[in-house]
Amino acid sequence: MQQTETQNTSPHVCPHTISFFLDNWLRKLVQHPKRIVGSYIKEGDTVIDIGCGPGFFSIEMAKLVGPQGTVIAVDLQEKMIGHVKRKAAKHGMTGRLEFHQCDADRIGLNCKADFILAYYMIHETPSPLRFLEEARDMLKEGGQLLVVEPKMHVSKAMFDQMLDDAATIGLKTMDLPKKKGGRSVLFSR
Ligand SMILES: C[S@@+](CC[C@H](N)C(=O)[O-])C[C@H]1O[C@@H](n2cnc3c(N)ncnc32)[C@H](O)[C@@H]1O
Repeated sequence: MQQTETQNTSPHVCPHTISFFLDNWLRKLVQHPKRIVGSYIKEGDTVIDIGCGPGFFSIEMAKLVGPQGTVIAVDLQEKMIGHVKRKAAKHGMTGRLEFHQCDADRIGLNCKADFILAYYMIHETPSPLRFLEEARDMLKEGGQLLVVEPKMHVSKAMFDQMLDDAATIGLKTMDLPKKKGGRSVLFSR
């Protein structure tokens, strides 16, 4: 474990009861999923949406990977996964999605992805570094991990600390993209 590691002793987890605020037309106007992740995803890809919440990104990413691709929607909360399942059925995307309920301190997926999204969720994990290590190991060679953190909850100093921690475990910062809806970094392994 790195000395610099940030530990969130009692992280606040966004409750499923406010999922409406995460998935609505107004958010789509300002944070359109395709504009945010579209350039990182191609047809046939395996994509993981970690901390998927009610599926605001999962469903749009399922459209981007096409019929040969897969999106794995992962969340701590069973009820969030339930939202995504219902939304996938409504949009005819069930065949492109897989679902996984994880533990707070362990994602626990045994697969490799072309692209991983961690949107507004790393600050909710008990150990961002442990999370990043596990996400790194789930990336294919050349795979990419996009992390976006909300400015309201994550200061620049906290974000920079995460970038330093990520470098110590071999995650390369490929870009610090703008206009993704928060403090953003694109990692590759
Ligand atoms: C603020 S919401 C963001 C949801 C989604 N990424 C979005 O942008 O709409 C954070 C989500 O991360 C999930 N989460 C929190 N800690 C987690 C962890 N350790 N592992 C997986 N998911 C987690 C929460 O249950 C919640 O659904």
